[in-house]
Amino acid sequence: KMNSFITNLMSKMTVDEKIGQLNLPSSGDITTGQASSSDISRKIKAGQVGGLFNIKGVDKIKAVQQIAVENSRLKIPLLFGMDVIHGYHTVFPIPLGLSATWNMDAVKKSARIGAIEASASGINWTFSPMVDISRDPRWGRISEGSGEDAYLGSQIAKAMVTGYQGKLQANNEILACVKHYALYGAGEAGRDYNTVDMSRVRMYNEYLPPYKAAIDAGAGSIMASFNEVEGIPATASKWLMTDVLRKEWGFKGFVVTDYTGIPEMIAHGMGDLQTVSALALNAGIDMDMVGDGFLNTLKKSLAEKKVTIEQINRACRLILEAKYKLGLFTDPYKFCDESRAAKEVFTLENRKTAREIAAESFVLLKNSNNTLPLKKTGTIGLIGPLADNTANMYGTWSVAALPENADKSITVLQGLKNVLGNNAKVITARGSNFLADSVMEHRYVNVHNPTYKRDSRTEAELIKEALEVAKKSDVIVAVMGEGSEFTGESSSVTNIEIPQTQKNLLKELAKTGKPVVLVLFTGRPLALKWEDENLPAILNVWFPGSEAGNSIADVLFGDVNPSGKLTATFPQNVGQIPLYYAHKNTGRPETGKFTKFRSNYLDVTNDPLYPFGYGLSYSNFTFSDIKLSSNTLTSGKSITATVKLTNNGKYDGKEVVQLYTRDLVGSITRPVKELKGFQKISLKAGESKDVTFTISEEDLKFYNSNLKFVAEAGDFKLFIGANSRDVKETSFKLIK
Ligand code: IFM
Repeated sequence: KMNSFITNLMSKMTVDEKIGQLNLPSSGDITTGQASSSDISRKIKAGQVGGLFNIKGVDKIKAVQQIAVENSRLKIPLLFGMDVIHGYHTVFPIPLGLSATWNMDAVKKSARIGAIEASASGINWTFSPMVDISRDPRWGRISEGSGEDAYLGSQIAKAMVTGYQGKLQANNEILACVKHYALYGAGEAGRDYNTVDMSRVRMYNEYLPPYKAAIDAGAGSIMASFNEVEGIPATASKWLMTDVLRKEWGFKGFVVTDYTGIPEMIAHGMGDLQTVSALALNAGIDMDMVGDGFLNTLKKSLAEKKVTIEQINRACRLILEAKYKLGLFTDPYKFCDESRAAKEVFTLENRKTAREIAAESFVLLKNSNNTLPLKKTGTIGLIGPLADNTANMYGTWSVAALPENADKSITVLQGLKNVLGNNAKVITARGSNFLADSVMEHRYVNVHNPTYKRDSRTEAELIKEALEVAKKSDVIVAVMGEGSEFTGESSSVTNIEIPQTQKNLLKELAKTGKPVVLVLFTGRPLALKWEDENLPAILNVWFPGSEAGNSIADVLFGDVNPSGKLTATFPQNVGQIPLYYAHKNTGRPETGKFTKFRSNYLDVTNDPLYPFGYGLSYSNFTFSDIKLSSNTLTSGKSITATVKLTNNGKYDGKEVVQLYTRDLVGSITRPVKELKGFQKISLKAGESKDVTFTISEEDLKFYNSNLKFVAEAGDFKLFIGANSRDVKETSFKLIK
């Protein structure tokens, strides 16, 4: 039915109208939603627009859809896109935080709520999930992904796509757009948009699986990345866009460029606008985001035989199919029900879920002497630039929630007061600005933080006030780290420590001798050596979202036992980057201490500060030795690996039980550990449970040097534990 409908529609379309469907302009300003500006509405009427993004508000979107379906010749409805990255008005933790829950139901639920709220506001297409693997904390966009691991990243990609899209039938199920295809997280030196160069074996094994997983889960669209791959910008790579994506993976949706991805190829050195637009279409790109390259040059290229009508038809058909699948031809206003916005956006229930998920994303990095949880009595000194700060609770890419919703997030101070009531006293001081130098601060704190105000007092004055508060406190809760926009797009850094001015404050607080709990806001792994060595407790809260303060208080006072685990390695220092658990052994592996002519550093070990998968609990979980059902695994069969997990602590809690393998001998070198499974287990204090994993040949497959997906017979190690470092170990053989 869809095919004949579209064939019939396309038979009526002029070439210009077909090219118009491939055009995705931005509405301009997301907050004013200037889509009805005369230029855009003229283009819509002329059939020169396939979709729009960055319009906010169901009334505005409805008005624009009306232009398309009432005033354009063929009345083709528009797609309405937006970056709904970690929630719409109800903001969930940044994706890196969300991934730290290792809870796929929670991940899916956050996407579902994002889709419900966005669709109640007129949006039918989100530019999410971002599934770019990154092993470089300098890269600002590491905050938007799920960390360093392809297996975990694939599970999360699937959960998000199904959360957004569901069956793509109801008016609260929206189109997902997996991004940024491909390898955007591997830019040299962690600099955004930078060159990527890697072997195909590495791509297939370590970077491409999450994109494929999103596509296997039915993602309806995919976004090309800005970077080059093998010397060709991804936007012009026929190998990526057609050979891998369509021929190997069978992708049936449409491909959109990133923002001005086509004209940027002029700067890449690929030719003029006409040339690069033709390159993109011929590579397999279907929609041009903001570039105006398709709109202004494809007809000329057609006349000059640089592109064919078949290629234009292909792209046009895929975009019309997406609109058809969304139900827009049946009801172009399907997502424009004004009554929904009031009932379904930023509801108490959604915020309750956001609070729970945020608390589950926190990673307890250190907790000596059971400093945490805190007692709900006495005087708590809440100190730091994030202690009473609204706009920095969301983290990057909270476009729908900011700026008019900026003051709706719960600050840490408010959260503590909500949870403590009159039981304890909270006294507070700012203590420092984010950064010492106001010029730099201006660079870091951009337009998305309109409510952020720098304190004009000197560093010494701010510290003095903080120490006075500290003196009167039984415990100090230092709330500091990064501001929302220190990570995200175009926010790469070369220094991944807590900014110096905040560290100066922290050092003064530590000198008081009072217990100092660091509540750390960050969008990337930071180097926290000093903090780890000098503070009794560190709770990493990423950017928790709308319910930040409440969820932080829930965990600080033990109403929720932390269960988050890192999904990206925290290095000792920036010089170790890239540092990741699934590294290769090399021919001269480190021996544990510095040894000349081995693969190690003179100044630090190769160890991370906190490894992948790491995170503490208020309880103490112990693992028995591993029991294998058999030491040999034969093709077509499976074996099981079981551990007994015990909660030996005083608190009920959750542990993420992680399964890793190591392929000891291969036709290509293999990582020292690879995540192959995980289960998040709830245990009451004192309780034990057997946790069983099933392993089959399929789990041991990898891409060999011919890019064939194979498992090779031989010896394997199998590890189960609470993180990638602290594991029980056994071994088995694969027999084929
Ligand atoms: O979706 C984003 C992308 O991640 C980065 N460039 C802009 C796009 C649209 O806002």
